[in-house]
Amino acid sequence: MSRYYQVEEHMKTFIMLAAIMVCAVSLANADPLDNGLARTPPMGWNSWNRFRTRIDDRMVREIADAMVASGMKDAGYVYINIDDGWQWKRDEKGVLQPNPNFPDMKALAAYVHSKGLRLGIYSSPGPRSCAGYEGSYGHEEIDARTWADWGIDYLKYDWCSAGRIWKDEDMPAVYQRMGEALRQAGRPIVYSLCQYGRAKVQEWGPKVGGNLWRTTSDIRDQWQSMANIGFSQSVLAPYAAPGHWNDPDMLEIGNGRMSPIEYRTHFSLWALLAAPLIAGNDLRDMTPATREILLNQEVIAINQDKLGKPARRVAQDGALEIWARTLADSGTAVGLFNRGEAPARVIVRWSDLGLKGPLKVRDLWSHTDLGNFSEEYAADVPAHGVGLLKLVR
Ligand code: GLA
Repeated sequence: MSRYYQVEEHMKTFIMLAAIMVCAVSLANADPLDNGLARTPPMGWNSWNRFRTRIDDRMVREIADAMVASGMKDAGYVYINIDDGWQWKRDEKGVLQPNPNFPDMKALAAYVHSKGLRLGIYSSPGPRSCAGYEGSYGHEEIDARTWADWGIDYLKYDWCSAGRIWKDEDMPAVYQRMGEALRQAGRPIVYSLCQYGRAKVQEWGPKVGGNLWRTTSDIRDQWQSMANIGFSQSVLAPYAAPGHWNDPDMLEIGNGRMSPIEYRTHFSLWALLAAPLIAGNDLRDMTPATREILLNQEVIAINQDKLGKPARRVAQDGALEIWARTLADSGTAVGLFNRGEAPARVIVRWSDLGLKGPLKVRDLWSHTDLGNFSEEYAADVPAHGVGLLKLVR
């Protein structure tokens, strides 16, 4: 046997052993319920915030059309999610039927797919949904199979009446049951946990197959509600990562009860938080101001940044707050927030960010480069407003 041949054999053995070790390590780390979806925060639309249970097949199709026509699809919004109010009764085989407002879910999914979009649906682990419709209790596997058969791409699974049967500490097992059912249903389905952030969901959400989990109770189209939710999320930053996101609830932008300045703050904060961007307005009827916010590509790029690291609050002076997140290109996104009732000068110091100047500053709302700054940047921010910047070396 030549010496050369021996060396080659050793190399082969070495490579094989290395490959086995890599496989063993990745198997040990692999989460069996990880579906590989939602590598960046999901973007789309949901019916609840604007329409509650006044929903039907025709409206969902019109929203899909508007998603394309408005440019939202091109901007990255792809999920059209039907919330509570589509359900009816079970047939004799236990298959859940949609109510007469949704005559043919398979055809609806096909229509949505034909537009290059995806269709989402809603259920509860309890016997009843929050609005009193039939839930998935005792029918988890058959429901997951039904949705996969219809062509559903996203499930929001809302605790609601499950609280009558189980305690909060049962939540991981209850959510895992549907996580497994979805995994076995043979179709990739984004799994959205909705149990209002109870029982430290951020610690077990990924393990039960969750791609996102609500972190709070329901948002309302009102400054105080949005601000209380959004500005409370800093401690949850370490729990989000590609495939697994904190969900501070859906967007209220365009629903009319906040000002354009407040809606900009809402969108900037959700972008910084790497929150799902699920629009909750009527896409068929948007003002230019609403469009300008929802379609701001530079802000969306912060939200969708591949690193998937949410912002944290890095400095606070009363009602003035600085939030920052590191981006995949090693830039930094910074929000200069004024939660107060009067305009204010908000200053971000590079030292608060652990950075050294000079840094180039870009304004992501005016879409302008503001120049090089050696130690800090100061912006005049209106009441309830924001300055959103990207800093690069
Ligand atoms: C709960 C959820 C909402 C919505 C309603 C539907 O309140 O948190 O987002 O899905 O139920 O009934």
